[in-house]
Amino acid sequence: MIYARVAGTGSFLPGKPVTNDDLVARGIDTSDEWIAERTGIRARHLAEPDVTASQLAYEASVRAIEAAGCQPADIDLIIVATSTPDYIFPSTAALLQARLGIANGGAAFDLQAVCAGFAYALATAEKFIRSGSSKRALVVGAEVFSRILDWSDRGTCVLFGDGAGAVVLEASDRPGILATALHADGSHNPILCVPGQVNRGSVTGDPFLRMDGQAVFKFAVKVLSEVAREVAEQAGMPLDAVDWLIPHQANIRIMQATGKRLGLPMERVIATVAQHGNTSAASIPLALDQAVRDGRIQRGQRLLLEGVGGGFTWGAALLEF
Ligand code: UT7
Repeated sequence: MIYARVAGTGSFLPGKPVTNDDLVARGIDTSDEWIAERTGIRARHLAEPDVTASQLAYEASVRAIEAAGCQPADIDLIIVATSTPDYIFPSTAALLQARLGIANGGAAFDLQAVCAGFAYALATAEKFIRSGSSKRALVVGAEVFSRILDWSDRGTCVLFGDGAGAVVLEASDRPGILATALHADGSHNPILCVPGQVNRGSVTGDPFLRMDGQAVFKFAVKVLSEVAREVAEQAGMPLDAVDWLIPHQANIRIMQATGKRLGLPMERVIATVAQHGNTSAASIPLALDQAVRDGRIQRGQRLLLEGVGGGFTWGAALLEF
């Protein structure tokens, strides 16, 4: 039996933290109290205008490859989950492959499932590995969401941040990923979207993130609870046996509500939303890497990763680390 096992993790955040008070100082009509109370967010990182998703992806990938004890040339599949690619094309994954100096490598492609992107990318890479098509995959979530925020809309601009996280996933006869589940329901697309496009040299539609916060909140708690149960059932493991829940980092209240529904106390939930804000596809691997590096996550522990995002899309992976 071939398993896909996490061999190493890495992450990268651009620049210094930008606190809620810094946003107030920049003229946004908000307060640290409002943001912290409604979301748990205290700070986020914002990339300089010339920093792109592939650069953030590169920094996170170098760290993950080093942690895995391999070389870029050993990577035979790259999947980058992003909604804020450098270009329309080529893909951010192809640009990352070039930055890593991998010539004549395996497949490299972007995956677009917004904040569920990392769960989608991990599940996809797992299938390449289990089928024998790939031996060592680099799976990345990288975002510069600051580029698609309407900084005059206080209801959204305070929530998001930039960053990247990566894992090296390799073929192993020891258990790694035990179960995955992916879902989508496109009928909910209007509640979280960036409804614009490049058309004949200019932008048509609206190129900024638009969200119905309350509708997203309710939907997120429901599907995150359902999909967590689904992967636990698929793996034949009680939720009780999960050491760490690593949810998409959108709002601490969504994480608390999900943890409560699943019977997992907050002591077993990795939460980085206070320092990172919502970094979309980067949020799960950023949280994972932080908890691996600070020693909370140990080899052999069972991790439940889950995300939900625009589309709507959602998914989860249960794995032995
Ligand atoms: O990856 C998925 C991404 N999205 C999410 O996870 C979002 C999920 N939703 C949420 O996290 C919450 O719905 C929000 C944090 C976005 C908003 O919290 P809420 O409790 O649903 O607030 P609300 O939108 O109902 O707004 C309440 C009030 C309004 O004022 P009035 O009309 O009551 O006077 C807003 O204008 O809060 C006001 N408000 C703000 N005040 C200060 C909205 N944004 C801000 C702000 N600072 N940044």
